Amino acid sequence: MTTDIKTILVTGGAGYIGSHAVLALQQAGYRVVILDNLVYGHRDLVETVLQAELIEGSTLDSGLLKNIFSRYDISAVMHFSAYAYVGESVGNPSKYYENNVVGTLSLLDEMVAAGVKNFVFSSTCATYGVPQEMPISETHPQNPINPYGASKLMVERILTDYDKAYDFRSVRFRYFNAAGAHPNGLLGEDHNPETHLIPLVLQTALGKREAISVFGTDYPTADGTCVRDYIHVCDLADAHILGLEYLLNGGESTVFNLGNGLGFSVREVIDTAVRVTGKSIPVVEEDRRPGDPPALVGGSDRARDVLGWNPQYADIETILTHAWAWHQKRHR
Ligand SMILES: NC(=O)c1ccc[n+]([C@@H]2O[C@H](COP(=O)([O-])OP(=O)(O)OC[C@H]3O[C@@H](n4cnc5c(N)ncnc54)[C@H](O)[C@@H]3O)[C@@H](O)[C@H]2O)c1
Repeated sequence: MTTDIKTILVTGGAGYIGSHAVLALQQAGYRVVILDNLVYGHRDLVETVLQAELIEGSTLDSGLLKNIFSRYDISAVMHFSAYAYVGESVGNPSKYYENNVVGTLSLLDEMVAAGVKNFVFSSTCATYGVPQEMPISETHPQNPINPYGASKLMVERILTDYDKAYDFRSVRFRYFNAAGAHPNGLLGEDHNPETHLIPLVLQTALGKREAISVFGTDYPTADGTCVRDYIHVCDLADAHILGLEYLLNGGESTVFNLGNGLGFSVREVIDTAVRVTGKSIPVVEEDRRPGDPPALVGGSDRARDVLGWNPQYADIETILTHAWAWHQKRHR
């Protein structure tokens, strides 16, 4: 019996954004196979919440990839797997170029060999470097200032060349700051080590940390702290379904920013977290960190216009409310 249910390979599907995309894919009627080496992913969430097939292994393992593409009739790949700690990438660039560039190249080559030519890629606003204008549009120059951002830009370049040579089509999403958790309370952010502001603030509210550090209070922003664009993880997941369907319907390779178009300062995030949690959140003011631009806000009109993307959870209070529900459950 033939079936028209399409199978999507999701690398990094046991991680934060990937797990939300897996759930969105399942809800949209796709079959999902996850490839994750579980270096940072969570087996428990895959088994209990997603109940998706998990292949434990690395994109660097060409033999495993060959096996996956011969065993399953894969229609497209969503590629979330990567290492994503900016600071670590500065001290250990080899780890980042190996995993993020070589690991992706090995995946792309097995896809080309198997004739699978639809690819949704997690790129980042870190490919832009220090912004020259705001909001940052997709045509803004890309000058990454750390190896993590450079590794993602290299993959973007590889994708352009693979399109020309092999008719390999990709949607590259440049995310701003992924944040929040699934409103069902069952999926959310659980990085270890954690470097993102919102989970750190909420861990402080839970008493797991003594205080939240604010790096720089003299930036040229309204309250002196850094401004960032936070985009709800479920809105990211929705964009991935739209990007996938754009490719499956024959769309050409392209790139989209995924952000809110709204900036919130570190102080605004902390003040909102105090309101949402009802807890006191001690703050320690520290010096600026090198390489932190005062503000990073993206323009995502292209994703709205071309894909019909319509983010549902744009306000920071909702993002924090969902994240708080998840944190209380996960870090009890
Ligand atoms: N979180 C953000 O705000 C943000 C912003 C911009 C871009 N991104 C990108 O989005 C993607 C997902 O980010 P995340 O926050 O969900 O990270 P995450 O660490 O939670 O998820 C990544 C997953 O990939 C897995 N993985 C890493 N290397 C692998 C490999 N070689 N083979 C198989 N699995 C591997 C990890 O175990 C993890 O489960 C990453 O590519 C990241 O660079 C994230």
